[in-house]
Amino acid sequence: MPAELEPRPTINLVDPDLYRNGDPFSQWRWLRAHAPVYRHPATELPGFWALTRYDDVRAAYRDPETFSSAKGILLRPAGHGEDPGGGRTLALTDPPRHRQLRNLVDSWFAVRAMRSLEPKLEKIAQTVVDRALELGTCDFVTDIAGRLPLYVICDMMGIPEADWELLYGLTSQAFGAGDAGSQRIAHLQIMSYFDDLRMAKARRPGEDLVSVLATAEIDGERLPADDVILNCDNLLVGGTENTRIAASGGMLALLEHPGQWAMLAADHGLLPSAVDEVLRWTSTATHIVRTVTRPVDIRGTTLAANDLVTLWLPSANRDESVFADPDRFDVTRKPNRHLALGFGEHFCVGNVLARVELRLLYQELINRSVRIDLAEEPTLLRSIVVNGPERMPVRLRG
Ligand code: HEM
Repeated sequence: MPAELEPRPTINLVDPDLYRNGDPFSQWRWLRAHAPVYRHPATELPGFWALTRYDDVRAAYRDPETFSSAKGILLRPAGHGEDPGGGRTLALTDPPRHRQLRNLVDSWFAVRAMRSLEPKLEKIAQTVVDRALELGTCDFVTDIAGRLPLYVICDMMGIPEADWELLYGLTSQAFGAGDAGSQRIAHLQIMSYFDDLRMAKARRPGEDLVSVLATAEIDGERLPADDVILNCDNLLVGGTENTRIAASGGMLALLEHPGQWAMLAADHGLLPSAVDEVLRWTSTATHIVRTVTRPVDIRGTTLAANDLVTLWLPSANRDESVFADPDRFDVTRKPNRHLALGFGEHFCVGNVLARVELRLLYQELINRSVRIDLAEEPTLLRSIVVNGPERMPVRLRG
């Protein structure tokens, strides 16, 4: 049925159960067709504007002066106060401060840096797949998809290998589906870990990202300790959560579309376009918030200063006016100008790394002719922040 004729679903984009066992796509489809600038009522979260069309999301991304990141980029209950990273982290600053912070780390994630890192990444991918094959039956999310990005970002940050598992547990807990109390505790533990590491690296800097941040100067001043810690947290979480969920969601899509997996196996040249289709299809960052800094008109609706605007990336990436047959998973899709990694000023700093990680993981599974079957139905995350598999038991045969 054409989207214009679909009956109006009940709109509630902030119900976490919607992402575990509901159908957010029908809500987004209706909003794109009928209410692309939608005023979402307050719940325990404040009220906000919801942008669901590709062009509107992209336009907001292009204009960081009007759509600020400095007060937070995720919906938060009003009682939780301001985001502690506001005005301090890569993700939560506006120009010009944002550019200065970004300049500190950009070269570490550039294409050239990734090229020289690739042999190491390839080895890590091999180890991860070896271990999973030994297990035979395992959880694709934790045992395969989560391991590669975690090990890579820990290595880049100069975190001793003995602590990688500890940090994996803490990041999963901090952003998993558990209760708010245990999430907060895990977050505090991550912060405390980085406080110790920051001090150690400031004393004896090495060739790693934490040393860069711990010794960095902007306008002749050292980064304050809290800013170092919060940026480390931003890199660790950014480097692990989304890639893990995208790699798992992508694998699920490939299992559900065996013809597409067979095409990839027959032609490795399709891996780059397949990775972008996985990114579009999974769009793991569900919403991104901006705060309006001055009155702005979007499609005839005026948004006031201090209003919150949400950008729904999975919706933008299924916009029928931009993507041909958007609900078809197609590893050959070209062009594929998805917004899964954001756009503009805050375009994901790990965009090249994420693509390399996804490519190497699928490549390793294909090269080894690993046969993968679902052992149980996957469980999806109960979260409005990131969407995709939380648990995906699989059987592997080499
Ligand atoms: C599939 C994997 C990934 C997805 C879907 C993803 C998604 C995103 C999105 C949507 C943004 C923009 C946020 C905004 O608009 O405010 C972003 C920013 C960011 N991402 Fe990623 N990301 C991924 C992988 C990574 C990796 C591997 C890293 C490694 C460090 C990373 C680190 C960051 C950081 C630090 C930012 C903030 C950049 C800034 O504001 O300048 N991400 N990511």
